[in-house]
Amino acid sequence: LNVVVLFGGQSSEHEISCLSAKTIMEAMDSKKYNLYPVYVAKDGQWSLYNGDVSKLDMDRIPNRTMPAAALLPGAADGKLIIFREQEVIRLNVDVVIPVFHGLMGEDGTIQGLLEIAGIPYVGCGVLASAVAMDKLTAKRLVEPLGIRQARWLEFTASQLLAGTGGAVEQVEKTFSYPVFIKPSRAGSSVGVSKAGDSIELSRGLMEAAQHDRKVMVEEAIVGREVECAVLGNENPKASGIGEILPAADFYDYNAKYHNADSKTVLHPDFPEETVARIQDCAVRIFRAIDGAGLARVDFFVEDGTNEVVFNEINTFPGFTSISMYPMLWQAEGMPISELVDELIRLSLS
Ligand code: DAL
Ligand code: MG
Repeated sequence: LNVVVLFGGQSSEHEISCLSAKTIMEAMDSKKYNLYPVYVAKDGQWSLYNGDVSKLDMDRIPNRTMPAAALLPGAADGKLIIFREQEVIRLNVDVVIPVFHGLMGEDGTIQGLLEIAGIPYVGCGVLASAVAMDKLTAKRLVEPLGIRQARWLEFTASQLLAGTGGAVEQVEKTFSYPVFIKPSRAGSSVGVSKAGDSIELSRGLMEAAQHDRKVMVEEAIVGREVECAVLGNENPKASGIGEILPAADFYDYNAKYHNADSKTVLHPDFPEETVARIQDCAVRIFRAIDGAGLARVDFFVEDGTNEVVFNEINTFPGFTSISMYPMLWQAEGMPISELVDELIRLSLS
């Protein structure tokens, strides 16, 4: 099979995508797959990655000496076009793995391009990807399922940029501090902050308004942070659960990727019924957004009540060496190479 792995991308999670792609490509059996790594630079330029896959890392992202590449929906004889010096190579692509996190890749945009090109791809389609990326829309789809989530208020960026006074007042009338401020669409907690008073709230609203047209303010849930992996199409399966023990005050971008003290724990100690509830909620949420292939669904287990509270769903969760999604399946007895085989199989079925 000719497999194109797309990675990098234009979002703030560019570097993480490179690390995820490295893990995935290293797990792919070269006897089964002809691998074509296509790197998408931050400015959107595509090229065929001709470096050593094992050398991909945060500090050494690909350079610009690589042959340009393009995926052309409408190219009849070969869908991936590689421009190598004077040569033009046309490649028929059997499947694409869009290893992107965040906007312009995990949000339905690339999925739309692949639909138009008629190329099968791993993971969620246009709708599920777009819905999961937009936190406010995801909340609305989860609401009728009777799964608890943090209560929220929403504001438009233009309203906030004109002045945060009204929003601060409304938040203070509705919730007590601390609250979380999040752009509706963002990945890896970029633009997200926690506010303990009106000054922090106002600053957080302004910051979030830089990242999206819609901003959400959520009540804080006090509890343990857990994640569950989902795999499948019509009959999705849930993995066991994992817990995040953040080193920072909350699991922000820095704590996730730059702080070695953040820990992930497999088989955390929770009552059996709590684990079953998390797994059931994960599958129902995956179905509600019309998920396919994979997703990781994140929850809190509230202190005191032990209630399961939905936090967010990621349609292309991290696959770095410290990422929960592959570790959760590994814990179920599915090593990453089999997981990638299964994801490819699901994309073709
Ligand atoms: N957005 C990151 C990669 C994750 O949730 O795993
Ligand atoms: Mg994400």
